[in-house]
Amino acid sequence: MATNFLENDLQVEDSHICVVMVGLPARGKSLIAQKIVRYLKWLSVNAKSFNVGSYRRADTPRPTAEFFDTSNPEGERLRRAAAEAAVTDMLRWFEHENGHVGILDATNSTKARREWIKERCVAKGYDVLFVESKCDDEDLIMSNILEVKTTSPDYVGQDPELAARDFRERIRNYEKVYETVDEPDSTYVKLINVGSQVIINQVSNYLQTRIIYFTMNLHITPRSIWLSRHGESEFNVQGKIGGDASLSPRGLAYADALPELVKHSIGDKNVTLWTSTMKRTIQTARHLTYLKKQWKALDELDAGVCDGLTYEEIESKYPEDFRARDDDKYNYRYQGGESYRDVVIRLEPIIMEMERGENIMVVTHQAILRCIYAYFMNIPQDQSPWMEIPLHTVIKLTPRAYGTQEERFKANIPAVSTFRAKYTSANMGGEEGLVDEDKVLSPAATGAQVNGVVHPDEVESIVTPHHTATTPA
Ligand code: ADP
Ligand code: F6P
Ligand code: PEP
Repeated sequence: MATNFLENDLQVEDSHICVVMVGLPARGKSLIAQKIVRYLKWLSVNAKSFNVGSYRRADTPRPTAEFFDTSNPEGERLRRAAAEAAVTDMLRWFEHENGHVGILDATNSTKARREWIKERCVAKGYDVLFVESKCDDEDLIMSNILEVKTTSPDYVGQDPELAARDFRERIRNYEKVYETVDEPDSTYVKLINVGSQVIINQVSNYLQTRIIYFTMNLHITPRSIWLSRHGESEFNVQGKIGGDASLSPRGLAYADALPELVKHSIGDKNVTLWTSTMKRTIQTARHLTYLKKQWKALDELDAGVCDGLTYEEIESKYPEDFRARDDDKYNYRYQGGESYRDVVIRLEPIIMEMERGENIMVVTHQAILRCIYAYFMNIPQDQSPWMEIPLHTVIKLTPRAYGTQEERFKANIPAVSTFRAKYTSANMGGEEGLVDEDKVLSPAATGAQVNGVVHPDEVESIVTPHHTATTPA
């Protein structure tokens, strides 16, 4: 059975945490909730967000601001019913679907509401962690409303200006009853103005600490991340895995071309460049003039006894291992080496730094890039080790409010393909990285895509009328 990354530190199998989001509308609660889910799932912790607004929409799809006025008894009744349904589903999920971290994504803005949620969780023996987002930056709130609220299903077909006005009215109704979290015997983290101030109270276990630390590192400053594998190496040409080989002549040509390849999309941005400690990534980055940092954690997946062999040699020397790896590539650990699961564990500090940081370029290896890419693009574990991340290609990721935009820039320098499909014995052969016309494919030509986390407001069909389905993946 797969080991859980936290199981040496604490019994995640026995741990149940209900993360209760708190805050006025348009304070980034849903975004934070979705990011916690993505982070924990990447680390193999079973996490899920339960968005109360989605439950409420099943009965009240297009509410106006007065629905949220607490002196409106019908509104109060329906909102309470939506919260009940979400909490009930979450508790059921903990019990029957081996849930570890359930997130109750709603305003939860009164002490009475929070007390009620806490009682229900504590009665089942589950921990409760309140995550409050407070923000009094009017410009930011207005831009949040325009960015994500006017396009919410609550306002489908409405004029954005009227929608924004109604949403501001909705917020005013919440403000009348809003009580900040200050319950002394509760576990909470209060993020004030996007983490410029953080207040933490009564943290009692390791998993809670990880979640809190993660939320403290989130920011919303616009930035991008550029990812590249090293240029083609001598080992790549020979079809060998692992090692610490130098670049091939074509790999060196990629290193020469890299500054020009990223020049346009990086412009005069302040970028930090990370490489592994291996020759091939350091050589690839050598003409880039950004501030550089080498990370051991970015070294390629350790192939143990198979290091330096071709896939065909591995298949003939270690046929059972070869088959076992294809059967479950994420969990398979090379004898004396690593699995993808192991790599994710050592990349956790890298991801945390990437969340904390701004513009970063990372030059690293095939397996490492698959894991980093899987985090940002929310790719499940059974798919991530099989993703094609070609040589001589820069992938630019730009986090957006909900999702990550992807653009690919290919250098016009051929390279071998190191991709081996499941249940085949050799690399796919052929060359990759060839582009006929322009040196750089424009984002339009490569097709910019958005993926990653999905705003609950954008996923309307997820809630069935009887409240059985819950939140987006
Ligand atoms: P809520 O769930 O609180 O109604 P959303 O998650 O839908 O709010 O709001 C998303 C918007 O909030 C995004 O535009 C994002 O940039 C912004 N945002 C993210 N984190 C924060 C924060 N800590 N404080 C204020 N705004 C934030
Ligand atoms: O072939 C290049 C390489 O980076 C090897 O060093 C490494 O073992 C391999 O890719 C990882 O890819 P996969 O997990 O598909 O074998
Ligand atoms: C909602 O209905 O969109 C919502 C978040 O509800 P509440 O504030 O009642 O949790």
